[in-house]
Amino acid sequence: MRESREIAFAPGMNDGALFEQIRHRGADYVRLMSYYSAAMLEVETKFKVLSIEFNGKFDRNPIESIKTRLKTPKSVIEKMNRIGKPLTVEMIEKELSDVAGVRVICSFVDDIYKLADMLALQDDLYILKVKDYIKHPKPSGYRSLHMIVEVPIFLSKEKRYMRVEVQLRTIAMDFWASLEHKLRYKQDIPQEHAKEIAEQLQQCAKSVGEMDQQMLSIRKQIEGDY
Ligand code: GTP
Ligand code: MG
Repeated sequence: MRESREIAFAPGMNDGALFEQIRHRGADYVRLMSYYSAAMLEVETKFKVLSIEFNGKFDRNPIESIKTRLKTPKSVIEKMNRIGKPLTVEMIEKELSDVAGVRVICSFVDDIYKLADMLALQDDLYILKVKDYIKHPKPSGYRSLHMIVEVPIFLSKEKRYMRVEVQLRTIAMDFWASLEHKLRYKQDIPQEHAKEIAEQLQQCAKSVGEMDQQMLSIRKQIEGDY
């Protein structure tokens, strides 16, 4: 029984072959991904509802944009391999918290914490984990507030709780993370330059952090004037 539920994996298989492996266990994998899509939609909707309320009620909207992404089969397989877990549909659900991702881009740093608090107050959603990479940036310089949340999805015959990774960041943090991500995938950087480039990126992240603080301070001064 157990074996039949495993998705075979041989190192060195190309992406197409990997995808085929998942497709063989197709129905269960596709079903699990549809649950994650539903959960992602629930969380996205929660932020959209807040955004609609801000537009109607307040003079500014802290939400600049909302993006969603479902982990690709390739990326699911790579992560399961990296953490050394068997590639079964059950283990994917148990071990991965970031299959469904919602990224919320905010205007100012304080908006991030306000939105996180608003989400935490919603009584149909559980916050399982918070990682504050704004107060404690990653060694790369990466800043964002991460939350693993659990939301119910209502299916025809059952109610299921699914985990979604929420990333909250400012426009400036998003600018840095997007470009750093693109640069990191350039594999042809010579070893001796890599360290120097990493240091420059850390410096940029620091500047971005300072700019966010300055912009917040300017907003507060302007608000004080009114
Ligand atoms: P993953 O296996 O990558 O998901 O790591 P993790 O489970 O330890 O989660 P972590 O809290 O480190 O956050 C992972 C996600 O945050 C990544 O998928 C990226 O979206 C983002 N992230 C984390 N570190 C960096 C970084 O240094 N640069 C960029 N651009 N993004 C990062
Ligand atoms: Mg991840």
